[in-house]
Amino acid sequence: MTDEKRIERLSAMLKRRGIILPAFEIYGGVSGLIDYGPVGASIRRRVIQNWIEHWTINGDIVEIDSPTITPENVLIASGHVGEFNDLMTQCEQCSSAFRADQLVEGYHPNPDILVSKEIDEILTAEKIKCPNCNQSQWTSSKPMNLMFGTKIGAMKSSRQAYMRPETAQGMFMLYPSLYRHFRQKLPFGAIQTGKGYRNEISPRQGMIRLREFNMAELEYFIDPENPPIIDLSANKEKITLIPDPNGNEHKEIRITLQDAIDNNVIKDKTVGYFLSRTWDFLIGVGIEPSKIRFRQHEGSEMAHYAEDCWDCEILGEHGWIECVGIANRTCHDLLSHEKHSNSNSLRAWREFDEVKVENKEILAAKTSVLGPMFRDRAGSVLSALENLENIPDNLPFNLELDDGSNVEITSEMVEKKMINNSIAGEWFTPHVIEPAFGIDRIIWHILDHAYEEIEKEGEKYNLLKLKESVAPADVIVLPLFEKDGMGVTARKLNSQINQMKGVKCLIDSSKSIGRRYARADEIGVPWAITVDHQTLEDGTVTIRRRDDQKQIRMEINQLLTLIDSNMVSTLF
Ligand code: ATP
Ligand code: GLY
Repeated sequence: MTDEKRIERLSAMLKRRGIILPAFEIYGGVSGLIDYGPVGASIRRRVIQNWIEHWTINGDIVEIDSPTITPENVLIASGHVGEFNDLMTQCEQCSSAFRADQLVEGYHPNPDILVSKEIDEILTAEKIKCPNCNQSQWTSSKPMNLMFGTKIGAMKSSRQAYMRPETAQGMFMLYPSLYRHFRQKLPFGAIQTGKGYRNEISPRQGMIRLREFNMAELEYFIDPENPPIIDLSANKEKITLIPDPNGNEHKEIRITLQDAIDNNVIKDKTVGYFLSRTWDFLIGVGIEPSKIRFRQHEGSEMAHYAEDCWDCEILGEHGWIECVGIANRTCHDLLSHEKHSNSNSLRAWREFDEVKVENKEILAAKTSVLGPMFRDRAGSVLSALENLENIPDNLPFNLELDDGSNVEITSEMVEKKMINNSIAGEWFTPHVIEPAFGIDRIIWHILDHAYEEIEKEGEKYNLLKLKESVAPADVIVLPLFEKDGMGVTARKLNSQINQMKGVKCLIDSSKSIGRRYARADEIGVPWAITVDHQTLEDGTVTIRRRDDQKQIRMEINQLLTLIDSNMVSTLF
């Protein structure tokens, strides 16, 4: 059977079992919008929880949460209003709109880097057909902004806003608070998980291209002159990298991340560090190591804010798909927000190794003159004179005060002097390294890699071999029958297990025990406890392992202790 059939069967299973479903289905559904059902929502929560713990474990990264509605000025400064576009083309015949680069996939090695004219040429030369009506007449491709617009407030007093296209701007807005939180010391980072919105032109491939999706982003703020010390030499694993081909062939190399940094394949050490941590996370949630590679962006493929970017791509039924982007955003965002907001709070202080002494000309105030002259404004005048960057050649001159007003300073009020000025450090704009994860794409690949179709003794069944940490539940309790007190004992057991911290238990008593095992296997619950007649006699139950259906009988209390300490696997 072809891969396409496997996707169909997997998608049907995900829907049947309440994992991933099309949203608003009774009204015909909306492409690019999905629901996580009762089982899928638990998997999603656990993947996100794993992600948060993965980054916050060392104490240099904290979690924040900010609004999804974002005022326009923030996104003008970030560049999204001007540049967050995809090229779109429309079929002349049926008016269906498509992402132009996707139409020419297969006709160019990397359509992401093409400009409008180049794509139009390929569309014409290759007579590319409309996927909807099979004609091949296209309008010339045009950029379309991907943000969903909205208004804050109503009528004339309303403000233009957008649903956030990335969570990252929330971290930049909170930079001053983060800087205080970390006692004015770089490096530090902030993570945020939550919805991002992009009005994708032609969503396809199920949950790969959504219009509302789960993002998980980390902004790590560093001093580019004193970057964090990175040592990845203990990590001996060889990883697949595809460095920017610079006009040559895209070539895969297998290399340790330390060697990639030492050989300048990865230029920024902090970027290398985050590739390594991304790898660890993905393996931890069950992505197969041989199906992960990191591909460096070509110059013209890079987002408007990035200086370097590595996509982490995962192989699944849809081919290689970008699931994480690790970008060096430099000081682009903080600097631009400072300019657009007229604030000077998006900086960090860098101490020099040695205090520098420089000769400096100043205008020393004659306080005996300034005091009576300016009375209650004298303090503001004094501080404006002290902070004057450029000493005027001639007096009198107009001095701007903090409140924006001006006063005239004459030669009677000040005198020019040379002083020795000690400078201990300087203000600078931190640089940012950003790993940006698409949680839905990662969940799709976790499910894809965990899904097994098995045929045993003429019977077909499916298995989701999920890692315990992302399984929708840790254990399921199954009474063999409802009667004779088995149902009551099972419910008591279920409730006892659910009271354990961090442990989630399900209970299922409908239909035959065989079908219930099959259902539990299919949604990936790693352990099943069966309450049977013997339980009522001697207080023992069986515990069954999902991955090989092996069973062990043991005392309930002993089993409860093992579940509580997450040690059931030591039994087998
Ligand atoms: P693509 O080239 O596939 O459109 P992108 O380069 O625009 O992706 P980024 O802007 O780097 O993606 O977004 C960061 C991450 O968010 C991606 O690596 C991906 O996992 C996820 N992502 C982006 N767009 C979508 C989407 N429409 N649906 C689901 N996940 C998405
Ligand atoms: N914040 C990364 C992105 O939106 O691509």
